Amino acid sequence: MAILVTGGAGYIGSHTCVELLNVGEEIVIVDNYSNSKPKALERIREITKKDFKFYEVDILDKESLEKVFSENNITEVIHFAGSKAVGESVAKPLMYYHNNITGTLVLCEVMAKYNVKKLIFSSSATVYGMPKTVPITEDFPLSTTNPYGTTKLMIERILEDLIVADPNWSIAILRYFNPVGAHKSGLIGEDPSGIPNNLMPYISQVGSGKLKCLQVFGNDYDTPDGTGVRDYIHVVDLSLGHLKAIEIVRKQIGIEYFNLGTGKGYSVLDMVKAYEKATGKEIPYVIAPRRPGDIGQCYADPTKAKEKLGWEATHTLEEMCEDTARWQSMNPNGYED
Ligand code: NAD
Ligand code: WQD
Repeated sequence: MAILVTGGAGYIGSHTCVELLNVGEEIVIVDNYSNSKPKALERIREITKKDFKFYEVDILDKESLEKVFSENNITEVIHFAGSKAVGESVAKPLMYYHNNITGTLVLCEVMAKYNVKKLIFSSSATVYGMPKTVPITEDFPLSTTNPYGTTKLMIERILEDLIVADPNWSIAILRYFNPVGAHKSGLIGEDPSGIPNNLMPYISQVGSGKLKCLQVFGNDYDTPDGTGVRDYIHVVDLSLGHLKAIEIVRKQIGIEYFNLGTGKGYSVLDMVKAYEKATGKEIPYVIAPRRPGDIGQCYADPTKAKEKLGWEATHTLEEMCEDTARWQSMNPNGYED
């Protein structure tokens, strides 16, 4: 019996695989390395001292995906595989709709064929669009502001329809807030290609001297210091949320939605200060115009995950900064040698 992890070589996938192996789960990983490197898998083995099967397969390739199911006794699927860059999704909407939506359709078709109907899906807080208030609960109205977000919302709707048609499915939809940090070993972490779009990888590359100066996108939001507020969550906490989600999908839950966040909002300047304090490195910054499409505040009400999943985030902001910095200093070029 094994859990199939699609996108398991990626940032959140690799950390989740470590936690799954640590608790003795058997896993099979599928990834096409479109946004990851084989070295991530070596590192998972190094950290856990455990082995697993890996298939270099694109989930759009139905025949190859079927082979994975026919050769293994898959009992549940954690589905991370997809494209995730907001800006790129605006430039290449068809690519995003194809990879994320068709990829999920193919996966679900193959799962149904092999009678595997327990699924955990990586959704995003982006499905809350521009929330009117914070903190955000799971029943907030949903909307999107870019093609990437629309793929996540459409997939949620597709999975709802699937459950109506066949109640044997058991699906947990996890809406992640802002994952940051890295494994304590410094062996796995986030490895963005090119100049990072997201705040934490950008700060860490300024901290290491690779980039000169952070641009703070806007200081006139309706927030305590005027800069954008987000719910940053340590990637290991996020990964542990998947272990709890596996437990509940095994119990046949229908379809359930969970916010995975800490419930705390930190501003861009809070993050700069916290990183400086945790690492002793100075992060030079300039105030720049707002980034188009950005929202002022976004943080979770994680009560449902606490009550129904028995999960809550425990890592501190300091650990998020220290662990990011350790990964950055041990791997200045990510997984490249
Ligand atoms: P990532 O890009 O590091 O990992 C995704 C992995 O999927 C990569 O290894 C990539 O090579 C693989 N992949 C992509 N398309 C594939 C395909 N067609 N077939 C096989 N493999 C494929 O991203 P991540 O940050 O680990 O995110 C994982 C999931 O969580 C994604 O679905 C993402 O949209 C979602 N998510 C991420 C964030 C975030 O900020 N990181 C926030 C919310 C939701
Ligand atoms: C955080 C804050 C920026 C970079 C994105 C996606 C979302 C989800 C997570 C997948 C904002 C500010 C950033 C910089 C800055 N991904 N910032 N200078 O925008 O909350 O969410 O990643 O699902 O869908 O939209 O994260 O890290 O890009 O930005 O001032 O160089 O940092 O304006 O306030 P975001 P982020």
